[in-house]
Amino acid sequence: MLGTQARDQSGTTRDDQAWWRDAVIYQVYPRSWADADGDGIGDLPGITSRLEHLAALGVDAVWLSPFYTSPQHDAGYDVADFRDVDPIFGDLEDADALVARAHELGLRVVVDVVPNHTSDEHAWFREALEASPGSAARARYLFREGRGDGGELPPNNWQSMFGGPAWSRTTDPDGTPGQWYLHLFDSTQPDLDWTNPEVREELESVLRFWLDRDVDGFRIDVAHGLVKADGLPDGPEDFDSATQATALQPMFDQAGVHEIYRSWRRLVDEYAVPGADRDRILCAEAWVLPLESLAKYVRPDELHQSFNFSFLMTPWIAGELRASIDEGLTSVAAVGAPQTWVLSNHDVVRHASRLGYPPQPGRNRTEGIGPADAQPDAALGLRRARAATALMLALPGSAYLYQGEELGLPEATTLPDDVRQDPTWERSNHTTPGRDGCRVPVPWEADRPSFGFGPTDASWLPQPDVYGLLAVDRQTGVEGSTLELYRTLLRVRRERGLGRGELTWADVAPADVLAFEVSSEAGATAVLTNLGAEPVPIPPGARVLAASGPLPSSTLPTDTTVWFVPA
Ligand code: NOJ
Repeated sequence: MLGTQARDQSGTTRDDQAWWRDAVIYQVYPRSWADADGDGIGDLPGITSRLEHLAALGVDAVWLSPFYTSPQHDAGYDVADFRDVDPIFGDLEDADALVARAHELGLRVVVDVVPNHTSDEHAWFREALEASPGSAARARYLFREGRGDGGELPPNNWQSMFGGPAWSRTTDPDGTPGQWYLHLFDSTQPDLDWTNPEVREELESVLRFWLDRDVDGFRIDVAHGLVKADGLPDGPEDFDSATQATALQPMFDQAGVHEIYRSWRRLVDEYAVPGADRDRILCAEAWVLPLESLAKYVRPDELHQSFNFSFLMTPWIAGELRASIDEGLTSVAAVGAPQTWVLSNHDVVRHASRLGYPPQPGRNRTEGIGPADAQPDAALGLRRARAATALMLALPGSAYLYQGEELGLPEATTLPDDVRQDPTWERSNHTTPGRDGCRVPVPWEADRPSFGFGPTDASWLPQPDVYGLLAVDRQTGVEGSTLELYRTLLRVRRERGLGRGELTWADVAPADVLAFEVSSEAGATAVLTNLGAEPVPIPPGARVLAASGPLPSSTLPTDTTVWFVPA
């Protein structure tokens, strides 16, 4: 569709009709989607061969988690070469073929960029280890002397997101302990120093490399972490990341990140084709609170999208969801951006399992689940997950889906300890199971080896038996299946223009029912989500467009969402 060009107050060209403002973008985790060569790890040719699934599903774009050269200590988020494809995933020709095929099918392609850190196998870090303190090679990273008489203590009190200290000590060529380097994640993921212009130039050149290969945008890993507070001061010991402003932490949401993204925006705008709806987009992975601070990332001259993780973390409680939706909409409206909704990704417990626990006010379980933990109620979780997705896909803005959620896949919660690969497991001294449970390979055909994930039985994480029952071929064309529900929701969302609509709450329903209308050029679409214990009536004369579950006798049962045209 051709866009209507408009100029906002900042003078930036803004396309009110641009594709990304209401896009539904499907996340593929390359290790786990489709394996063409049968080695048990998904790859780019596998993805290309399955793209029709996404076209049939009705999404607008695919986002690929990293497939770059990497020793895979953090499943590819440890990049050794930003400009090449890891041999386990294929090569650059395979990447080009994937982008070309996606475009043929009308799908755009967003790739990951990981600017906060590199792998310790990146040429820059190897050079830095061989160079001396104070050298230009070390200045690309955050090397510091230790504290204490012999420098035996880390330079500050920062902790790695995966557990343990965020600093590791190097060894000098003569075998004596040397400087420390910062790694907010695994020790194999040294943080880059974004005050160094060479780092800025390099990452901008990486963006151009992929834009020149015709990708449609980037999801920016740890977008809020690039700039650290001056002097790398100690952080608060008792910081609660669920409730407190992220900027209070010296490693996150520092004001300096915004200037980087203004520069990136100018860069991607060079690649937009005005009038052709070919904006290339930038989407932040920024776990930032409050939402007003997150909204700064999507000011008109910065990024296009920023995942709203507050919504993902909101428990299945009507009042909390309503407040979260309101806050989500008002925070971005203040800067003229659409909201970016998401319920699952490769870092959190799949929502079909997360919602299978009793909701706890103010909290939603996102950390991994192990066999020793209380297990979620699978039927309840799936029912709520379907209702939650139908709620999310009715909301104005864009939305991201995570591979397998369209099948209702649950988290793999009983993976044996010896198959776990997430560095969180080791770094937490086996106290946190980590994220492997949401990364298990996707089932395509129930009766084939590895449920059709690849041509052999190999699968880098074992697939639970229930994945066979939920395979794509078991759900295709089956009325009421989760896959057909997603297809219907995506079709109706498009037909009714829900992603571009205006939301108005209808205060007619009981307190534990969410009720609103979305008005768009297609008219008003009413949405009800019942989080209460009792069924509620669907208004007389309603023309039902979609529902997340059966609607016996014109009522909306517990944990169900319905979309309808009001009488
Ligand atoms: C966020 C990514 O989503 C996650 O998978 C990764 O471990 C960290 N960033 C570090 O890159």
